[in-house]
Amino acid sequence: MKLLESFSSFEPREAVCSWRSPANIALVKYWGKKGHQLPANPSLSMTLKECFTETKVTFHPSPKLEVRVSLSGKPQEKFAEKIRTFLQGLSSELPWIQGLHLDIETRNTFPHGAGIASSASGLSAIALCLMDYMQPTMDDQFLKRASYIARLASGSACRSVFGGFTTWGDESDLYASQIEVHKDLAHLHDTVVVVSSAEKSVTSTKGHERMSEHAFKEARYVQARNHFQLMRSALASGDMNEVGRITESEAFSLHAMMMTSPDAFTLLKPQSLMAIELVRDFRRASGLPVYFTLDAGPNLHLIYPEEGARKIETFIEHELGPLSEKIIKDQRGEGPTTC
Ligand code: PMV
Repeated sequence: MKLLESFSSFEPREAVCSWRSPANIALVKYWGKKGHQLPANPSLSMTLKECFTETKVTFHPSPKLEVRVSLSGKPQEKFAEKIRTFLQGLSSELPWIQGLHLDIETRNTFPHGAGIASSASGLSAIALCLMDYMQPTMDDQFLKRASYIARLASGSACRSVFGGFTTWGDESDLYASQIEVHKDLAHLHDTVVVVSSAEKSVTSTKGHERMSEHAFKEARYVQARNHFQLMRSALASGDMNEVGRITESEAFSLHAMMMTSPDAFTLLKPQSLMAIELVRDFRRASGLPVYFTLDAGPNLHLIYPEEGARKIETFIEHELGPLSEKIIKDQRGEGPTTC
């Protein structure tokens, strides 16, 4: 399927497009690629509300592809290089991109190193601006195409294009799709316990690469596919305990893959494990459904439903507060908007 075929010839023009796009947290993890930016297993995530990126792209016709990026007013040469490489790749489908100069001004609502991937929100915002540039009126293909473009920039970014709960690698490997969940789980919270905001020793890109020679990769992909099916059913039936059980198992598996990869590493900190133990102790003692997950980093995302949320938040503040640098409260969001 050629999703962008109808835009293959296009005359670059002056335009400004602005989008606000949120981060997402994976409950079933994407870790390992196949082909060109395709996932080795299906993943499932919840799109966040408060943690987002606002991006304004000014497009100018230009003799060659040029990209300038500023983050909160400061030039970002490394990020600009990443965008340039991504756009070069996209120009095999959209050759006119070679005749564009993009001025990208971007800002995040969440701090760097917070355990919330700014690549998902930031790159999905750029993909939405590019889609808006090509097709200023939205139709039923708009978000699918934006998700396709976002995927080529960063895998998990393709899921941020949709609000609520999103899958990738189920309906298609090329773009993400939105799914319905039971009303009791439609408004889950995600409170991030930032135990360390230090820069990661191994990037996600390198981590994905290490899966290609991993001794356990096939077993991991079988587990992830199985978890994906179980997670979809649990979300549909409103079974929070099953959602939580799989969510924690996925977080452990992701980090176990890192610790057992050929060039082994860990991103966990002692405080991550201490916080995990406290969450599990609190859950046993209180009977309240709070579960942790981890991204590719040491910080815990605590997932819980609205019911019991106040007691859970008191626990987080009192018992996990002392272990953390900061705590960021978020919840399920509705997805991107223009801004
Ligand atoms: O999108 P990437 O290449 O940054 O990879 C993201 C990987 C995880 O965040 C660890 C898992 C996921 O599915 O989001």
